Amino acid sequence: MKKHYSIAIDGPAAAGKSSVAKILAKKFNLIYIDTGAMYRAFTYAVIKEKLNPKDENESCTLIGKVDIILNKNGTVLCNGEDVSKKIREFEVSSNVSYISSYKDIRLEMVKLQRKMAEGNSVIMDGRDIGTYVLPNADLKIYQIAEIEERAKRRHLENVEKNIDSTFDNVLNDLRNRDYIDSHRAFAPLKPADDAIILDTTHLNKNEVVEKISSLIKEKLGLIEDEQ
Ligand code: DC
Repeated sequence: MKKHYSIAIDGPAAAGKSSVAKILAKKFNLIYIDTGAMYRAFTYAVIKEKLNPKDENESCTLIGKVDIILNKNGTVLCNGEDVSKKIREFEVSSNVSYISSYKDIRLEMVKLQRKMAEGNSVIMDGRDIGTYVLPNADLKIYQIAEIEERAKRRHLENVEKNIDSTFDNVLNDLRNRDYIDSHRAFAPLKPADDAIILDTTHLNKNEVVEKISSLIKEKLGLIEDEQ
């Protein structure tokens, strides 16, 4: 039977996980699963229904009612609506850590994430992939960078995407999210015992891709897809 591989990339917000994971997915012919986008889409649905994201009971009333689809082309659908851009805006970004701290919502998202990984070779990024979602992943990377560097990168990314942004807003939002993500009771942000810690503060995107590519080749024996 063909072996399927799974690669987990965890780490704090804006450490560059998703842009690197997308490139690696293409390079090694893996399916990329952006789990943060799923929590963001759920947050969008809560706000759209005029529920309070800071209220766990109210937010959890939507469990089972939010249909989230991650398309291969990178678009995200929430109950049929293309929310790819809206889920990156400030209102969602500043509330998603509350939503993702609610255990029942996490359990629903994790079920979906494991189903997407089943029978496929995947690269999945998030906060708890190596510790909780895919504890048997073949390779676990924990990608970090200093917070000012992460804020600089995310702010530039927002400007490029025409998303309203200031450096100070992004920095405060990251600080708040780092705290909530790593202090929640259920499946908090932390490296798995067998994760490789990769500090990208002084590395550019290509250098990070090269480092993880070498690990994939060395530890999983995968070869790059000819394109
Ligand atoms: O990776 P991101 O910034 O798009 O993630 C958005 C939020 O979702 C983040 O603040 C924490 C949460 N998240 C999580 O708790 N678990 C995951 N596996 C992925 C994201």
